Amino acid sequence: LTANDAMIEIRPSAHPASAEERAARMTNPGFGRIFTDHMVVVPYVEGKGWGKGVLKAYGPIEMDPAASVLHYGQAIFEGFKAYKQPDGSIASFRPDANSRRFNASAARLAMPELPEEIFIGAAKALISQDKAWVPGAVGESLYMRPLMIATEAALGVRPSNEYLFVLLASPSGAYFPAGVKPVTVWISDDYVRAAPGGTGFAKCAGNYAASLVAQRQAKEEGCDQVVWLDAIQREYIEEMGGMNIFFVYQEKGETVVVTPELTGTLLPGITRDSLLQLAREQGFRAEERKISVAEWKSAIAEGRMTEAFACGTAAVITPVGHVKSRRGNWDINKGETGPVAAKLREALLNLQHGLAPDTHGWMTKI
Ligand code: PLP
Ligand code: COI
Repeated sequence: LTANDAMIEIRPSAHPASAEERAARMTNPGFGRIFTDHMVVVPYVEGKGWGKGVLKAYGPIEMDPAASVLHYGQAIFEGFKAYKQPDGSIASFRPDANSRRFNASAARLAMPELPEEIFIGAAKALISQDKAWVPGAVGESLYMRPLMIATEAALGVRPSNEYLFVLLASPSGAYFPAGVKPVTVWISDDYVRAAPGGTGFAKCAGNYAASLVAQRQAKEEGCDQVVWLDAIQREYIEEMGGMNIFFVYQEKGETVVVTPELTGTLLPGITRDSLLQLAREQGFRAEERKISVAEWKSAIAEGRMTEAFACGTAAVITPVGHVKSRRGNWDINKGETGPVAAKLREALLNLQHGLAPDTHGWMTKI
């Protein structure tokens, strides 16, 4: 599929940033603070379906104050990245998987599904238009943020009849200000992220709104991120605030990489799925299963667990160096980055930046 004017009408901004302005804004971009010159919007009306998309100057969206997203929160989003390749071209990592997850989130929130051609076509149009905004350094990328909101002006509590899909793009570096230095995490005993039957597997705005008080508590405890536990037993590790989690064990001379199994209450991360595959290719055993806090603590004490790391589109792979909780505090690998996290991080980044062959068909050329 090519970025296709028949599907997305291209209306370039009359005032794009100058080359100097762009260069200045792209220096040390951090995460999600700067945005490119354009965005794509595609409207939906029940009964008519998705309308024509428009690529236009990045800017505010006008909305009726009665728009149902502002009251009842029908809002979902995604996150994937586009990378500069060695030949100067640009490719994005598994956008088809993000499109599928977007539609799983839409279905859970009683929102319309968006055809993959529109999701990928919008991305291709925006990345092509704003290609000067794609950073080149390893570890930097153009972070793509698709979202969908309910725009019908109606206060009845029911699914909206009108929606807007929006795609924006943000040149990004490391998610955590300290870069790839190991982070400190806080196990949340006071708050729960998601319960069975709820929206945990969906990437809906409300999940993040509900997480912020726990994330603030984590900060107050001197931690970078919160670790969520299951809602029923309050014992099994689920995921982190905006990333999945992996543990590395040494068992009878074998390195085993373990991540919590998908329960419906945690986000099925695309990085998580990719790392399960990459880990096996690197010669590690990889397992999805339940892991309790008690096991985490004892495996560290007994020296069976040698590393833990967070993973996600924004976080890539970020080692976990310290754990704090009401159940005790412990260090992992003396607070240093371990060899398995480092190796998997390099394998993933090499693939994404086109420095290793794309044997999985994960890269989509723009
Ligand atoms: N868990 C949560 C709550 C997230 O917000 C994210 C980020 O998207 C992830 C996990 C990791 O998912 P992915 O690897 O698809 O970015
Ligand atoms: C991502 O990694 O894409 C995320 O959505 C994580 C966070 C910034 C919400």
